[in-house]
Amino acid sequence: MSFKNFKCVPKMIFGRGSFAELDNVLDTERQHADDFVVFLVDDVHQHKPLGTRVPAKAQDLTIYVNVDDEPTTAQVDALTEQVQAFNPKLPVSVVGLGGGATMDLAKAVSLMLTNPGGSAMYQGWDLIKHPAVHHIGIPTVSGTGAEASRTAVLCGPVRKLGLNSDYTVFDQIIMDSELIDGVPTDQWFYTGMDCYIHCVESLQGTYLNEFAKAFAEKSMDLCREVFLGDHPEKDDKLMMASYMGGMSIAYSQVGACHAVSYGLGYVLGYHHGIGNCLAFDVLEEFYPEGVAEFRQMMKKHNIVLPKNICKDLPDETIAKMVAVTKSMGPLWDNVYGSGWEEKVTDEMLTKLFRRI
Ligand SMILES: [Fe+2]
Repeated sequence: MSFKNFKCVPKMIFGRGSFAELDNVLDTERQHADDFVVFLVDDVHQHKPLGTRVPAKAQDLTIYVNVDDEPTTAQVDALTEQVQAFNPKLPVSVVGLGGGATMDLAKAVSLMLTNPGGSAMYQGWDLIKHPAVHHIGIPTVSGTGAEASRTAVLCGPVRKLGLNSDYTVFDQIIMDSELIDGVPTDQWFYTGMDCYIHCVESLQGTYLNEFAKAFAEKSMDLCREVFLGDHPEKDDKLMMASYMGGMSIAYSQVGACHAVSYGLGYVLGYHHGIGNCLAFDVLEEFYPEGVAEFRQMMKKHNIVLPKNICKDLPDETIAKMVAVTKSMGPLWDNVYGSGWEEKVTDEMLTKLFRRI
């Protein structure tokens, strides 16, 4: 038996309006007059009130990043080169302001500034050699748990896989629930369901333990208050649910829904949140109560998922998705335990995909 030695985010600020603390936090990192900070900001905030509140100084670099598509290794390498061309010195901090994709970009760029070669070289587990540049995560959409995790998920030339390492973990996060107010309903819902699904997969998994359970149970209660109860403090609750859901899977594992969603996302390009919802909706045999509650939540918020996406796709396309999904060994181990290889058949997965 091996025990996970899990690295957590060492510093965090929580609360409505706490984004205003960012300037002070960065001041403690700025030691010399020419020290600079890199801000990676989701381009939905450009020309919006939040964009004007980014505390950039004259010597800093602000890059508005487009995350319409999932982040790629090529995008990370281009951003890293852009930072290096801007100033040959290392920045004193890289700040990611946005959803999971933007935060993952910030993590990846902070790693690639100190680790030579392209980011595709480091897709995997504990391949990063050198500590990253100081990096800060500030979610403006909640649910992925990227603020808590030790990964930065990237689509590479060969596969979609994270830069998983202790160095990936943010040095600082700022959880200001004011920032997630005003996210479009669909995106709010799909990303929030990522969190709900993390909890279901963690709680139903063979990797479950009291550490993971404590976080998942509380996170799930918060999700219910947000998505079924419409609680007035729902933004604070969702922000905390996201963090705790991330903490839960950090000490357990995700399951069948993420495995299917990865296959769907890699081949058809669906974003993680909606990909999970599409996958979860056909997994009632795996997670009967979770899927029933998820459908109740969809109904309450008038969410209608796209239908028949895979029904008429060529067999080769489905086979590609099946192969990606099947390759997620630890996820299936969490679903079935040892001997999962016999249970996760091409036939079973093909049937699932055809229903999406
Ligand atoms: Fe997820």
